Amino acid sequence: MGSAPTPARTASTSAMLLITLLNVAVFRPTTSDPSDEACLTHLSESLQDPTKSLKNWTKSTFANPCSGFTSYLQGATCNNGRIYKLSLTNLSLRGSISPFLANCTNLQALDLSSNFLTGPIPSDLQYLVNLAVLNLSSNQLSGPIPPQLTLCAYLNVIDLHDNSLTGPIPQQLGLLVRLSAFDVSNNKLAGPIPVSLGNRSGNLPRFNATSFEGNKELYGYPLPPLKSKGLSVLAIVGIGLGSGFASLVLSFTGVCIWLKITERKMALEEGKISHLMPDY
Ligand SMILES: *[C@@H]1O[C@H](CO)[C@@H](O)[C@H](O)[C@H]1NC(C)=O
Ligand SMILES: *[C@@H]1O[C@H](CO)[C@@H](O)[C@H](O)[C@H]1NC(C)=O
Ligand SMILES: *[C@@H]1O[C@H](CO)[C@@H](O)[C@H](O)[C@H]1NC(C)=O
Ligand SMILES: *[C@@H]1O[C@H](CO)[C@@H](O)[C@H](O)[C@H]1NC(C)=O
Ligand SMILES: *[C@@H]1O[C@H](CO)[C@@H](O)[C@H](O)[C@H]1NC(C)=O
Ligand SMILES: *[C@@H]1O[C@H](CO)[C@@H](O)[C@H](O)[C@H]1NC(C)=O
Repeated sequence: MGSAPTPARTASTSAMLLITLLNVAVFRPTTSDPSDEACLTHLSESLQDPTKSLKNWTKSTFANPCSGFTSYLQGATCNNGRIYKLSLTNLSLRGSISPFLANCTNLQALDLSSNFLTGPIPSDLQYLVNLAVLNLSSNQLSGPIPPQLTLCAYLNVIDLHDNSLTGPIPQQLGLLVRLSAFDVSNNKLAGPIPVSLGNRSGNLPRFNATSFEGNKELYGYPLPPLKSKGLSVLAIVGIGLGSGFASLVLSFTGVCIWLKITERKMALEEGKISHLMPDY
């Protein structure tokens, strides 16, 4: 007894090892990640925080934002020492979204909704291969929806409503089979709604008209068929009636002016005549 390592001993050795590892994790939180640091540094440079809402967003914290599962950074959630969730909503943030956000390679959820962010949605977000939630709604973002987002294969949520995004809805986004929420309403998008999103096949979750409405030049199912046709008929009738009325008024005015001129001419002629007449 005692010569061969018993299962109990192996277990206790493993436990010791685990405790040692945990100690390293807890007492040496300097295991910072250079890509997370680059990500946070660039993000804080691209954002403006006029109401000073971002607590602890300082250089020293970026170097070391996590200790295991604890985050020192407002709005950030950590998982095993890496940033895996960033939620900075309704903080009156201005500025733009740094493409270096892509350096937060473990990011699963990005929520920057309800701020005043401007500029484009960086196509570099495609490198966030673990991204499941993208909520950039209620900002002032412009430019196109990057088709590259299709490369974030785990995307469940794409919420971009209430922005100023232009261009078409990329057809490729229909390839995101995990999408369960998609909202691009109230933007300036144009063109046909891709069938891959508007009329999804099989048992993929479907998106109704509320996901697409509020984009003047976007059309196709599930939006109601061209409401603008009815409007244009009304407009044509309106224009017809309006121009008819206008021409009536114009010709009436013309006649009046002509009458006035002739009247004056006649008066003048009369005057001339009376002037020529010798006044005995
Ligand atoms: C950040 O990302 C850029 C481009 O995606 C890359 O060139 C750079 O090496 C990354 N930096 C770090 C520290 O990971
Ligand atoms: C701010 O970050 C430092 C580490 O950089 C941390 O010790 C401190 O607890 C943090 N404060 C808050 C309020 O999270
Ligand atoms: C956003 O923040 C303001 C105060 O900063 C608050 O009054 C408002 O209720 C918040 N809105 C939401 C939807 O949380
Ligand atoms: C995105 O954020 C907004 C505002 O914070 C919220 O109302 C909305 O429900 C979120 N979208 C999804 C799909 O969770
Ligand atoms: C939607 O797709 C189904 C088949 O998947 C088809 O029968 C139907 O006509 C389509 N509806 C529209 C409005 O395109
Ligand atoms: C559209 O879908 C949303 C959920 O995505 C649901 O809350 C809403 O009631 C639906 N609207 C209609 C008109 O079906």
